[in-house]
Amino acid sequence: MHRAEEIWLILSFGMIIGFMLLTGYQTFVEGMGPPSHKETIDPQKVDETAPFDNPGITQIGENEYEVVMTLEVFNFNPGNIEVPAGSTVHFTLTSKDVVHGFQIAETNVNAMVMPGYIQKITQKFDKPGEYLVLCNEYCGAGHQMMSTTITVK
Ligand code: CUA
Repeated sequence: MHRAEEIWLILSFGMIIGFMLLTGYQTFVEGMGPPSHKETIDPQKVDETAPFDNPGITQIGENEYEVVMTLEVFNFNPGNIEVPAGSTVHFTLTSKDVVHGFQIAETNVNAMVMPGYIQKITQKFDKPGEYLVLCNEYCGAGHQMMSTTITVK
């Protein structure tokens, strides 16, 4: 083998191993891995399974709310929720059919909501306004219409 070939092979394998070690360290030692797929649910029985048998918004503390939401083609239930400015909102989400997205514009919230899994995500809303919530996973013919709002007053 050519000397230059050997050098490039060693360099590229070294980089692969290096990146694997780095991401492995971040995931397992520093706990930076995405906290997904921890809780599962039977996607056929979402309507009968707590807390999704009673979707809605509940105040759980001063400026703290829990939103239990189901996603299905092509809506969010409940939709058009309202919270006071300064609220911290804990979302508990699942899908009743296919993979959907849960993205709140102007925030860092951008989650994949899959049937069979429970997705949890927390967001604090300081700035009043109407936040657009979008499904950003293609989910069928009405995908582009799948949106709702969160109003912060
Ligand atoms: Cu739901 Cu796209």
